[in-house]
Amino acid sequence: MTDQTSLKKLAGYRAAELVEDGMVVGIGSGSTIAYVIEVLGKRVAEDGLKIKGVPTSDKTRRTAAKLGIPMHNVDDVDHIDITIDGADQIDENFAAIKGGGAALLWEKIVAVNSKRNVWVVDGSKLSDHLTHYLPVEIIPYGADQLFKRLEVKGYKPTWRLDQNGNPVRTDSANYLIDLHLNKMPDPFTLGRELTSMVGVVEHGLFLNVVDQVIVGREDESIDIFD
Ligand code: A5P
Repeated sequence: MTDQTSLKKLAGYRAAELVEDGMVVGIGSGSTIAYVIEVLGKRVAEDGLKIKGVPTSDKTRRTAAKLGIPMHNVDDVDHIDITIDGADQIDENFAAIKGGGAALLWEKIVAVNSKRNVWVVDGSKLSDHLTHYLPVEIIPYGADQLFKRLEVKGYKPTWRLDQNGNPVRTDSANYLIDLHLNKMPDPFTLGRELTSMVGVVEHGLFLNVVDQVIVGREDESIDIFD
């Protein structure tokens, strides 16, 4: 049981144990979080666990609701106790790149409104430096112009396209551009630069966000970093 999928499951199952009766839980997106949702659904159905879920994507909302987890919009709860989410890559300072699953905007909104953030990953997602492509969510109007500005900056943008070659639309109906940086500059400076570009809604750099990282290792052990 050492393939990536099994490690995601191992870490996801462990993360689901952090959820306690009465909590308001931000529920992340992606294949790792699918395992967290599975366990939470089981606990709700079989153990009478009472929680409120806040989704980070429409897909998560549908999957969790189908399993009987009561789901609420982020604006319909007065706080979020804990958010459990995945990540595409995490560096040694616990800065992360997220958004490979196109959910970065809602993920960031839920994260910044949570008392505690936990990320769940398999060991392959840890890296000394951030090298993963960086997703950026942008407004469709003027998107081609923004793409060209990112090209001029040398950020090697590519459009996120679906299988038919059409731009992927996020849950907020925006487009996604992925940046392929040769070398990640200081992520805080880059984050500020991207946020200040007109047309950019949000970027996938999650800095100073996480409180705990749960890592499934190849030897089937789990590391927890606080
Ligand atoms: C969704 O937009 C992402 O931020 C996911 O959390 C991230 O891509 C991790 O996904 P997996 O758990 O599927 O690897």
